[in-house]
Amino acid sequence: MNVLVIGANGQVGRNIVKELADTNHNAVAMVRKEEQKEKMQELGAAKVVLGDLEGDFSEAFEDVDAVIFAAGSGPKTGAEKTLTIDLWGSVKAAKYAEDKGVKRFVQLGSVGSDNPDAGGEEMKPYLVAKRTADEILQATKLDYTIVRPGALSDEEKTGKVEVSAEGFKSMEGRSIPRADVAHVLVDVLERQNTYGKVFEILQGEEDAETQLESV
Ligand SMILES: NC(=O)c1ccc[n+]([C@@H]2O[C@H](COP(=O)([O-])OP(=O)(O)OC[C@H]3O[C@@H](n4cnc5c(N)ncnc54)[C@H](OP(=O)(O)O)[C@@H]3O)[C@@H](O)[C@H]2O)c1
Repeated sequence: MNVLVIGANGQVGRNIVKELADTNHNAVAMVRKEEQKEKMQELGAAKVVLGDLEGDFSEAFEDVDAVIFAAGSGPKTGAEKTLTIDLWGSVKAAKYAEDKGVKRFVQLGSVGSDNPDAGGEEMKPYLVAKRTADEILQATKLDYTIVRPGALSDEEKTGKVEVSAEGFKSMEGRSIPRADVAHVLVDVLERQNTYGKVFEILQGEEDAETQLESV
């Protein structure tokens, strides 16, 4: 499949492009700056497209079979960018996918978005944006999978994760390497048992493949 990676230059996004290069899929890396193209090619992207979530990026969806949305405004900007990028960027991506007949849509969500009120005042706008983006995606006819990781780390890929469909009761002291998140986002692409599902992930003891079979 030709897989459009939105947020391809991000820390998770770069790992997704790398993961895809090791599969029979082609990564179509969407970046927002010309100078980011070379890095994408080095990582193994089959195609690189320019697109900004705050504008019209519908052209990125040409000849695409699946989408992985892994972009985000990050903690350095405020609630305004959280709205226009994390929320509205995702909503537009789902709309373009519907318009272009791209059925498969994998979204990188976040733990805590099941209950934004419990996340504290600082995190609340972000969690509300992520939750609302997820709900709007769930209301589409797309074959979506929403993967909500806990705290991200830059540790090496382990291939070991724990999946929770009900949501983890405690995440104290736990995290998950970005490389493992990328692995899961790519692994679920062709896993039909994950269509229409939302689940949380953390680093765990079992192979990602085994855990994902039980979703
Ligand atoms: N940090 C955590 O512990 C945590 C936990 C759970 C979930 N998450 C989610 O995981 C996501 C990815 O994490 P990460 O570490 O990979 O973040 P990251 O490195 O900040 O990557 C975010 C990517 O989004 C892109 N982006 C931002 N605004 C854009 C726009 N207007 N148009 C197109 N692309 C845009 C960035 O582009 P540039 O490269 O050009 O800046 C970057 O490539 C986060 O955004 C968050 O929603 C994070």
